[in-house]
Amino acid sequence: MPELFEILHGTRAMRRLKPDPVPDELIRKILEAGASAANGGNFQRWRFLVIKDREIKKAVKVHYKRAFDEIIGPRYKTSAPPPGSSAAKYHRQHDAVEYLTDHFDEAPVWIVACLQEGEAPTRMSGASIYPAVQNMLLAARGLGLGATLTTRHLFFEEDSERALGLPPGVCSYAILPIGWPMGNFGPVGRGPLEEIVYLDRWGERWDALSPASNDGE
Ligand SMILES: Cc1cc2nc3c(=O)[nH]c(=O)nc-3n(C[C@H](O)[C@H](O)[C@H](O)COP(=O)(O)O)c2cc1C
Repeated sequence: MPELFEILHGTRAMRRLKPDPVPDELIRKILEAGASAANGGNFQRWRFLVIKDREIKKAVKVHYKRAFDEIIGPRYKTSAPPPGSSAAKYHRQHDAVEYLTDHFDEAPVWIVACLQEGEAPTRMSGASIYPAVQNMLLAARGLGLGATLTTRHLFFEEDSERALGLPPGVCSYAILPIGWPMGNFGPVGRGPLEEIVYLDRWGERWDALSPASNDGE
């Protein structure tokens, strides 16, 4: 098992997955990690739908792919590489995103992270499910399994949730396709901390974060 910080810095979107089955006990461990997360008031309104049925996955993939064709694909073609990336890396990311789109239904297991909503969802709602999602991504990484946080099905929310068979009052927040990775894990690419952290006043750099201040450590 890799150590915690190796997992934190190396939990990348693993979009190329083998179709080989994943043992149920590993999925159980991932779900246990998810259900250990922080959640508002400890109400535990989360529900996790594990999907192995290929026909259901194919039905959802139709909407996932439509969102790629109509929205995400064109956006990738016209946007600049994000901080910590490069044109070549961004191009590879686009290829991987397209690969997952085309093979979405082949991931052996999906975990659909849902909330049983008491009232209409607000900006706060996701805060009670995304910690569980992140715990599950980290647990998958710890077990050597690949996974990706995906939300694109929500561009066609009603159609996707009908295909998922969700009852009224239950909203999906993410689909995690999980499987054994084809490639290797590696560090995530992100921009420098000193450009995104401020001290005391918005926009003021925190000197402690600049690379020079770490000299000699
Ligand atoms: C809110 C959210 C939604 C995302 N939705 C998708 C998605 O639908 N499909 C996908 O392939 N990746 C999706 N991702 C993964 C991001 O594209 C990925 O985290 C980002 O490109 C950084 O890649 P890395 O984590 O491999 O470094 C999503 C990530 C987040 C946080």
